[in-house]
Amino acid sequence: MVRLGVNIDHVATLRQARKAGFPDLLQAARACESAGADSITVHLREDRRHIQDADVSLLRKKLKVPLNLEMSVAEDIVRFALKTRPAEACIVPEKRQELTTEGGLDVSSNKEKIRKVVARLKSSGIIVSLFIDPEIKQVESAAEVAADCVELHTGAYASYCARKDKKNTAREILKIRTAGKLAASLGLRFNAGHGLDYSNTGPVAGLPAMHTLNIGFSVIARAVFTGLSPAVKEMKRLIRKSERN
Ligand code: PXP
Repeated sequence: MVRLGVNIDHVATLRQARKAGFPDLLQAARACESAGADSITVHLREDRRHIQDADVSLLRKKLKVPLNLEMSVAEDIVRFALKTRPAEACIVPEKRQELTTEGGLDVSSNKEKIRKVVARLKSSGIIVSLFIDPEIKQVESAAEVAADCVELHTGAYASYCARKDKKNTAREILKIRTAGKLAASLGLRFNAGHGLDYSNTGPVAGLPAMHTLNIGFSVIARAVFTGLSPAVKEMKRLIRKSERN
């Protein structure tokens, strides 16, 4: 069964827009949980633009489903993760000016640094994932640095889908399929995410060996109209349907 991890960063984006006490992040996470989310994901950015340290600590204590912390390799963030001990951590590249995570982590060029962070997190019992582009070289490097999982970046796939560029969409999905299969054959858990929505998730959910899809923006955007629970349930339904096809 392909699992759905709901990224609730943008509930915090809304709260931080007014630096108010609402919408309540834990309430949002619990609504996702009750609607069938298999995990909750948050990104503690170095600039703290949405998720705050206290949010992560609270979710870690109160959630029933696993908490997946997206994080950079900055030393203070690594120390925070070691102290908070989320069930999972996904290491992502981070640039201050970006609107969202733009590219995958270049594991191949930074093996020694990433290997050390992976080892420290794993020694605290955290399952470690690396957010990488769907490239053979990056998957092999993820295995070399002893990560537990890879999360393949579906951003390029999603933008070709949005542009209705069928040729490049097909090429991207093949890249994700090939990289995912390789990951599974190397003993890595195969996750994917970024830019997935109600129209483009199906083909990704149907890929062999897919473990978890991490989806945020589209679910929170839909929730503006439907509420969180129907938005999460609809995404779960769509994933289940794609698995069967
Ligand atoms: N996975 C990773 C590693 C991400 O950085 C993000 C964005 O925070 C997502 C998944 C979710 O992307 P989206 O919000 O576009 O669904």
